[in-house]
Amino acid sequence: MQTQISSLTIARPDDWHVHFRDGAALRSVVGHTARRFARALVMPNLKPPVTSVEAAREYRTRIVDAVTAHPGLLQAGAGFTPLMSLYLTDNTAPQEIALAKQSGFVHAVKYYPAGATTHSDAGITRLERVYPALEAMQRHDLPLLVHGEVADAEVDIYDREAVFIDTVLSQILRRFPGLRVVFEHITTREAVQFVQGAGAKLGATITAHHLLYNRNAIFQGGIRPHYYCLPVLKREEHRSVLLAAATGGDPKFFLGTDSAPHARGTKETACGCAGVYTAHAALELYAEVFDGAGVLDRLEPFAAFHGADFYGLSRNVEKVRLERSAWKVPDAYPFADASLVPLRAGDSVAWKLV
Ligand code: NCD
Ligand code: ZN
Repeated sequence: MQTQISSLTIARPDDWHVHFRDGAALRSVVGHTARRFARALVMPNLKPPVTSVEAAREYRTRIVDAVTAHPGLLQAGAGFTPLMSLYLTDNTAPQEIALAKQSGFVHAVKYYPAGATTHSDAGITRLERVYPALEAMQRHDLPLLVHGEVADAEVDIYDREAVFIDTVLSQILRRFPGLRVVFEHITTREAVQFVQGAGAKLGATITAHHLLYNRNAIFQGGIRPHYYCLPVLKREEHRSVLLAAATGGDPKFFLGTDSAPHARGTKETACGCAGVYTAHAALELYAEVFDGAGVLDRLEPFAAFHGADFYGLSRNVEKVRLERSAWKVPDAYPFADASLVPLRAGDSVAWKLV
């Protein structure tokens, strides 16, 4: 029998896709991310959405305040930097893109097809409407992040990512060959193959939950709302392709948790919100994935190098240490004046952050 690695020290990772929410909810969750990651790219789907550099500046301040108000949230000696994104709308002005680039703290602009997911009703209705903004982003070299699913109710929910590739993403890449694009939280073989076949300007994030679970998890002995997210979990054959992509060492794939907190009551209901909360164990869950694939040595590039390189930011020099030591996830965490149910609630995670 091969001896098992019992601990692992890697460069402090970054989370390239996270939802922090705002106000008391933000203060409830931000510590989970700040403790593990040096930087996180914060999604702009607040209500109202973060559509201007000024709004991003104010949101950034609230995040920094939430972290510094609780110094115990951070690892000893470690810092945490939120990286901001803007929410692209049909009306985003090229001038706002220029301001975003100049700001130094806005690192990307997020494309949500209108109606595709949580808080996306201000999203894009027709691709042509955002050509001026995309042209400005290409010119200023500001990356576009896409929620890669069509919102068309007539398209089967399991096909929405593949249809997005054919009808939207291909067109964006063709028309704006100099634009850096991140295909967020990819879930299918079609997405993996498309990213692999595209040029170096296209990257992709992969969540821990899409690497760990297939769609059976949503229906295990009953309906399990805490496994419901968008894009929805897919068949095993897709999960295995994602796993190969994440663990294969290709720099186009990098860590993005898409940790998306929702109060328990808004998920355990007749029409529950989409979103899986993983920030409490984000790095540890990815360690399980890479350990399971027998390539723990590839966790560091996936979690700490590929994303930074894609975004043109320096790699982190601080380190974090993980131990093979199972711990029990609480049944719930406080979330503003409610609670949220994290992934693996009441169950164990095999790796622990020291
Ligand atoms: C996200 C959220 O709750 O904000 N939900 C999700 O299921 N991933 C939105 C998103 O990223 O699609
Ligand atoms: Zn998301």
